[in-house]
Amino acid sequence: MSKYSTEELSAMVEPTRYHRKLFVDEDIFDLEMERIYGRAWIYIGHESQVKNPGDYVTTRIGVKNPVVMVRDGNGKDIHVLHNRCGHKGATVVNRECGNVTRFRCNFHGWTFRTDGKLVGTPHATGYQDCGFDRNNPQYNMPGVSRQGEYRGFIFASLSEEGPELETFLGEVKSSFDNMVERSPEGRLELVGKGFRYVKNSNWKAFMDNLDDAMHPMVTHQSVGEACEDYLREMGEVSDPKLKKIVEILNPFISSYEFFDEMGVTTCAYGNGWTGGEASIHSEYDEIPGYRKLLVEAYGEEKARRILSVNRHNTIVYPCMTLKGAIQNIRVVRPVSVNKSIIESYSFRPVGAPEELLQRNILYSNLVNSPASLVGNDDAEMYERLQLGLQDEAGDWMDTHRYLNRDKEVKPGVFTAPGTSDLSFRNMYKAWKEYMMQEAA
Ligand SMILES: [Fe+2]
Repeated sequence: MSKYSTEELSAMVEPTRYHRKLFVDEDIFDLEMERIYGRAWIYIGHESQVKNPGDYVTTRIGVKNPVVMVRDGNGKDIHVLHNRCGHKGATVVNRECGNVTRFRCNFHGWTFRTDGKLVGTPHATGYQDCGFDRNNPQYNMPGVSRQGEYRGFIFASLSEEGPELETFLGEVKSSFDNMVERSPEGRLELVGKGFRYVKNSNWKAFMDNLDDAMHPMVTHQSVGEACEDYLREMGEVSDPKLKKIVEILNPFISSYEFFDEMGVTTCAYGNGWTGGEASIHSEYDEIPGYRKLLVEAYGEEKARRILSVNRHNTIVYPCMTLKGAIQNIRVVRPVSVNKSIIESYSFRPVGAPEELLQRNILYSNLVNSPASLVGNDDAEMYERLQLGLQDEAGDWMDTHRYLNRDKEVKPGVFTAPGTSDLSFRNMYKAWKEYMMQEAA
């Protein structure tokens, strides 16, 4: 039984504000795990992480559902299974990644095929003539209720009900398309294992920040100013690597007008993106030879279109963001009401010059990594949020900005100036829709 009625939950999100309890109340966090993470399409992993038969990676959906994504022994299918032994319930797979022919539970030695089917129980004579039926599906590692794939990205939902994956992604499919098509071969491969780090903040602090274009020039002011000082003192930057660093960091202190012109777009289920043709990525130097490879692969017109899309962060609510222009994704895995794990992954656009990948990785090191100049500014602000929101002196977080400038460009798709709070309003509308549905 929830501590909060649907009416009380509904009252916590108004059109232009949301309640501080959403960030600090443990009961609300538990309900979010059940009603949002237990229903939405949650990002699991990329197909390139499980290239070969038996390759697997482990992760979680929300807090209570450890899962394993595994390439079937047939080499074709990818399964997302609950990481749970059908015998006593222990997690079966306890490494981050690896390769198996069979999964074997370390508790009593039950073994499972890569599709989750129970195949072996040690000392089997003990199960003869006692009513035990090894073919009963309750003994398997069960598959998640639904799984789906879009352009190599694998998602899972713990709910039998809800929109199909492609309906859920809707307009943001075009961000995935752009990221994949930046490979002349139309294929991405994960590079390394990515970064993973803890932030002492609610998962929504990370999601809120993604399309919040009013913060970079303030929160990241010191980074941008350091770049500007450097440029002033050193004159024209000639070292190619330093030039790339400046190219990546400097746009973080672009003007309010620049971010407004960049625009913000939202669509159903809390999804959306900032930026379009212009963004903090649009003024990067061209990588020698790259355009030519895209033209050869896609033709002049499509190559031009691919390179003209420079979105900033695309939001896949509630757990993921992607950047097509630099082939990076980040995922938030909630831990508790005031703790989250952030994962950051860089992809190789297969067939593109190595220099493009190097720049993508440089971006991640500078902006997303635990040693980042930029991401740590954000982490500090998230912690200040957690601290300030515990204080009952005020109850609300405001989302009025540019309310009067929302424009419906097609059914359910809205745009506004880039510094609008439209993205916040859209995510909390989705939050409310999920949270208002009680358990079936
Ligand atoms: Fe930031």
